[in-house]
Amino acid sequence: TTNRTFTMIKPDAVENGHIGGILDKITAAGFKIVAMKYTQLSKRDAEAFYAVHKERPFFADLVTFMTRGPIVSAILEKENAVEDFRALIGATNPAEAAEGTIRKMFATSIGENAVHGSDSDENAAIEGSFHFSGREIY
Ligand code: CMP
Repeated sequence: TTNRTFTMIKPDAVENGHIGGILDKITAAGFKIVAMKYTQLSKRDAEAFYAVHKERPFFADLVTFMTRGPIVSAILEKENAVEDFRALIGATNPAEAAEGTIRKMFATSIGENAVHGSDSDENAAIEGSFHFSGREIY
């Protein structure tokens, strides 16, 4: 069944000039962009978006990183979107990511790992509506 996932091109990848390269990989893999924006998260936004990680030792660094510059956020549609997108981006740690995956190609470290991908259909819906109103989804 066709469904949706949510992604962000993170500040490291934007700073390093990889927006185009990453979007090319995403569209070449058959994902349709149904919503997209160039934006910057506030501290409050990042703390809310990553609330599930708030007890983790890396939480403060994660919020600092995700707010230090602009990101591209998008909702993507495809058959089996969540699972296929996680395969396309590769492991959280780019050192462990498979050859040809977005993180292998564009990420620098486990913290600065170039892209986000939702981990479930439920979280895809929550994360997508955190970033986009209904009118911004086409
Ligand atoms: P993502 O899976 O998109 O969302 C949670 C983020 O937390 C993850 O990407 C990484 O950017 C970050 N993260 C996860 N594990 C670690 C870690 N061990 N050290 C630093 N950052 C991490």
